[in-house]
Amino acid sequence: MEAPVVVLATDDAQKRDALAVRQEVFIREQGVPPALELDEHDQTALHFVAYAGRRPIGAARLRPYDSDTGKVERVAVLADWRGKGVGRLLMAVVEREAAARGFVRLRLNAQTHAEPFYRKLGYETVSAVFEEAGIPHVTMVKTLNP
Ligand code: COA
Repeated sequence: MEAPVVVLATDDAQKRDALAVRQEVFIREQGVPPALELDEHDQTALHFVAYAGRRPIGAARLRPYDSDTGKVERVAVLADWRGKGVGRLLMAVVEREAAARGFVRLRLNAQTHAEPFYRKLGYETVSAVFEEAGIPHVTMVKTLNP
């Protein structure tokens, strides 16, 4: 089997692939309403897609939070690909791109079940638990290596 690769989406087909992964994971699997999952930031955010061969298996997006801080959102790996390092690879590519674009740190709202995943990657929890789309979350941050 080919090793997964992660790309920054540069055309509409790749952006559609990112949305297809999010549709499967957040809308179908987690039951998030489509009107919440897909939002206006999708027009302007950077989209990342993990591929196994030609099959999109993971996605994430990045957008500015403030002048120094990027916000990572919609991190998802298809269920049958979890636990194989795809999420780690996705986040590494997001972080590299964010650093290249001048962001000093990244911020994200993690579903609490995913907090140990992000902690392993160096993110620190900086909030109490709060609800978003009916799912408990915490805010986490990480300072990037320049
Ligand atoms: N709890 C504890 N550790 C976890 C974990 C979890 N839920 N998920 C992953 N890890 C650990 C792995 O064991 C691995 O550790 P190791 O390198 O020491 O072996 C490390 O984190 C990297 O894991 P990886 O295989 O790259 O993660 P993944 O591809 O399974 O992706 C998610 C992780 C969270 C993106 C994936 O589970 C997912 O898409 N979940 C559903 C959607 C979701 O909830 N997204 C998060 C929204 S905030």
